[in-house]
Amino acid sequence: MLLVAAPPTTRTSSPSTTTTAMMMSARRRTMSMGSSAFVRATKSRGTRGSAGRRRAPSTVRVVSEGTGRFIVGGNWKCNGTRASVKELVETLNKNVPNIEKNCDVFCCPTFLHLPYVKENLDSRFNVCAQNSWVEADLVDPEHHYDSTTGAFTGEISAEMLEDLEVPFVLLGHSERRTLLGETDEIVGKKVAHARYHGLSVVVCIGESLEERENGTTFDVIFKQLKAVAKEIDDREHSSWGSSVVIAYEPIWAIGTGKVATPEQVQEVHSKIRNWLAENVSEDVAKATRIQYGGSVNASNCADLAKLSDIDGFLVGGASLNGDDFAAICNASSVHYKAVGR
Ligand code: PGA
Repeated sequence: MLLVAAPPTTRTSSPSTTTTAMMMSARRRTMSMGSSAFVRATKSRGTRGSAGRRRAPSTVRVVSEGTGRFIVGGNWKCNGTRASVKELVETLNKNVPNIEKNCDVFCCPTFLHLPYVKENLDSRFNVCAQNSWVEADLVDPEHHYDSTTGAFTGEISAEMLEDLEVPFVLLGHSERRTLLGETDEIVGKKVAHARYHGLSVVVCIGESLEERENGTTFDVIFKQLKAVAKEIDDREHSSWGSSVVIAYEPIWAIGTGKVATPEQVQEVHSKIRNWLAENVSEDVAKATRIQYGGSVNASNCADLAKLSDIDGFLVGGASLNGDDFAAICNASSVHYKAVGR
């Protein structure tokens, strides 16, 4: 049994957590997430849409903030022993009564620890895989890339995550892009394939220090966004709010203790939202949750949470401390207060 926290796609004055069972069948999937629901199409659902190439009408308005529920994720990366994972799960479970109800939360253990965490972590927390595999050379105009089980030693496929009823997968983390050579194109295919299997995706984007310093930050992140948007069919755009989370993580801020300034974060987040408004739709721009990641901790989260265009955090190092992670989740209330929700 799997319970999925439900992010409403419209603003509410008092956000509340809804959980709903996720039911997926092999070829037709319905994922209900609170007030929004989308039906996964069948293999023969038709041709791809024109996402990513579409230009917005000239009347497009600037979308100044998101409307989705605050969402905080803990990226455990390649950390943990059986003993330390057990301890972290226990600390997180102990913190459940302390965590505000107005926030969606997910934790990303390693693949090895995922079944244990899924079994033992309170259902207040969603589990999220750190990656899923797709065959890089596969060309599929229907955007399913659905031949990823088989002779791929060492890889984990979205089918397997679906089978394990894992609701989320993290894709395109900069450590995978830089250390393992994942291209924008591969990340886009992974997004399409994971969504075809009913998973919600958290897609990481962000620039290196060199790119920031040479003024190409927005070229880089818009290119990363475009590679994702072009793999999502038009008909699915309405579900971005519930099933596609963007995590903006400047590479120079990850694990360095050098957090981006609120001004830097707000600038990038609002430009991401405007890119979505112009290249996908205004509705998608409003509904899509944009997390910030990079040296977020229990001390700096409140200042960042006040920003109008921040919809949550993706937390690495600090998520390995259950008490600190709970405190970061509670920055949701700071955010709602700051934006008057
Ligand atoms: P950090 O990592 O919080 O340790 O900087 C964030 C991430 O890589 O997701």
